[in-house]
Amino acid sequence: MNLLKASDYKDLSRKAANVISAQVILKPDCVLGLATGSTPIGTYKQLVEWYEKGDIDFSEVKTVNLDEYCGLSPDNDQSYRYFMNQNLFSQVNIKLENTNVPNGLAADYEEECSRYDKLIAELGGIDLQLLGIGRNGHIGFNEPDVSFEKTTHIVNLDESTIEANARFFQTIDEVPKKALTMGIKSIMQAKKVLLIANGPDKKEIIEKALHGPVTPDVPASILQFHPDLTVVYCFD
Ligand code: F6R
Repeated sequence: MNLLKASDYKDLSRKAANVISAQVILKPDCVLGLATGSTPIGTYKQLVEWYEKGDIDFSEVKTVNLDEYCGLSPDNDQSYRYFMNQNLFSQVNIKLENTNVPNGLAADYEEECSRYDKLIAELGGIDLQLLGIGRNGHIGFNEPDVSFEKTTHIVNLDESTIEANARFFQTIDEVPKKALTMGIKSIMQAKKVLLIANGPDKKEIIEKALHGPVTPDVPASILQFHPDLTVVYCFD
């Protein structure tokens, strides 16, 4: 495990963007696993800046996002597809057809989950998976549970996750209660994992996840078993 302490959010974002940028330089047609949420916004901003300077080329990169809310269309500004288009895809030279987010509007969610797992396998797996962490230890939307869910699945979001995400919606009732998320197996099979955590409210869960017992009650704790995990954090 590679633990990198950042001096502030900007430094965290730059360090994370450096890891992603190195991956793209070393393997221009790599598969990046991407995350949404507030933590990676600075990382994406930094990547866009370097792209504009000509330092990074996304033309052959493929992406798979971790998760998507059920019931939100790509043009809903709270959907994760919208977030990715806004924060990264529309600002760099990635081909939109090479970007993948679970379809929150699929007619059959079970089928969509199987399609997504198949897609990841067909792409040859994930080279580098970027992760944020929920205050309850979730990664993607793998919420605390009695067992680790391996494959892409439908989740009922935890009350604490709904409350944490309510800041992005007008009212808490608008926060979707279900989501589609990549499973623990796809995340653990990624060749490299980059976990980023910012702010004092992430300190306790990061300590539990990285140094406590490995348990599905703290989904991120499984990452202790990953052979190539880098954690960039700033708790100030
Ligand atoms: C988002 C995701 C979530 C977030 C987590 C932390 O795609 O999978 O697990 O990474 O909820 O979110 P922030 O960064 O907003 O604290």
